[in-house]
Amino acid sequence: MQIYLDGKFYSKEEAKISVFDHGFLYGDGVFEGLRVYSGRIFRLQQHLARLYRSARGIMLEIPLDAGAMAEVVRETVRRNGLLDAYIRLVVSRGPGDLGLNPVVCPKPTVICIVDKLTLWPRELYERGIRVATAATRRNSPDALDPSIKSLNYLNNVLARLEANRQGMGEVLMLNAQGYVCEGSADNVFLVVGGELWTPPVAAGALEGITRNAVMELAAAEGIVAREMFFNRQQVYTADECFLTGTGAEIVPVVEADGRRIADGAPGPITKRLTEAFHRLTRTEGEPVLVEEPRAAKTGS
Ligand SMILES: Cc1ncc(COP(=O)(O)O)c(C=O)c1O
Repeated sequence: MQIYLDGKFYSKEEAKISVFDHGFLYGDGVFEGLRVYSGRIFRLQQHLARLYRSARGIMLEIPLDAGAMAEVVRETVRRNGLLDAYIRLVVSRGPGDLGLNPVVCPKPTVICIVDKLTLWPRELYERGIRVATAATRRNSPDALDPSIKSLNYLNNVLARLEANRQGMGEVLMLNAQGYVCEGSADNVFLVVGGELWTPPVAAGALEGITRNAVMELAAAEGIVAREMFFNRQQVYTADECFLTGTGAEIVPVVEADGRRIADGAPGPITKRLTEAFHRLTRTEGEPVLVEEPRAAKTGS
C-alpha cells in the first residue's frame, strides 16, 4: 500500500503523523470518502468541491488547489493499482501545540489512502436492514453544521454505538426538532405515494454525493424526487425506505424501531434505483486505471 502524506508516498507502516496534529488532538480537519469502480473514480470533482467547501467552513486553507488535489488522488489510485477501491482523503489542521487555537498550526496535513473495499454482505442488500432511531440527536447546525464533513465524528460514533448495542445495521438520527436527518454515515430516503423524499441539508443532513446521484437518477426515471422534512412516523408508514452512501451505495431498510416498513421487503423503486446506480457507477467516472475508449473517428 502506498499512502500519500504531504507530498510523498509511504508504506502503511511508515505513513505517520505528529501526535501534535490538531486533526488527532481535536478532530480539527475535514475529509472525503470516494470510490473507484473498475478503475474509474466516481464523481471526483463533486467530492473535491465538498472537501473545499468543508474546509472553508472551518477556515482551513488547503495547501493545494483543487487541480493539484485531484492529481494527488489519481496518482495514489495509480500507485495502488486497485481497480475497485475506497479512497480516503484527509486534510487536518496540522501539527501545533497542545492548545486548541489553530493559529499555532501553520501547515495543514494532507493524506490520501487507497484501500480495498469492505463491502457489506450481499444478503443485506437482498433482504434489507433493520434500523432504530438513535437517542443521540444529530449535531445541531448552530453548533457544528452537519454539512461540514469534519474529522469530528463523535456524534455519529455515539449513534453507531447505539446501533451496535441494539444489534441493528444502522440508526436513524433525528435533529433537535425531531425530524429525521440521516444515518450515522449515510443519507436516508423514503418512497411515499410513488415520490422519493430525502431530508434537505437544512434538516441536518450531509449533502451526500450518492444522495445527489440518486436524486438525478430518480428524475431521469420519471420519479418525482423532493427534499422534504419528515419524522419517524412517516418512516414507519412509508412505502419504502433506503440509505445511501459511498461505501454502502443503496441499502434497503425494511424495519425501523421494530416496525415493519410496508411488507418488510426491499421495494420496487429501491430496486430500480439500485440498478440505475450500478449502471451509473459502471459507466461514469474519471478513468485512471483504464484507457478511455477512443472516440470514433469521423471520416473526412
Ligand atoms: C454523516 C454522513 N451522511 C451521509 C453520508 C453519505 O455521503 P456520500 O454519499 O457522499 O458518501 C456520509 C458519508 O460519508 C456521512 O458520513
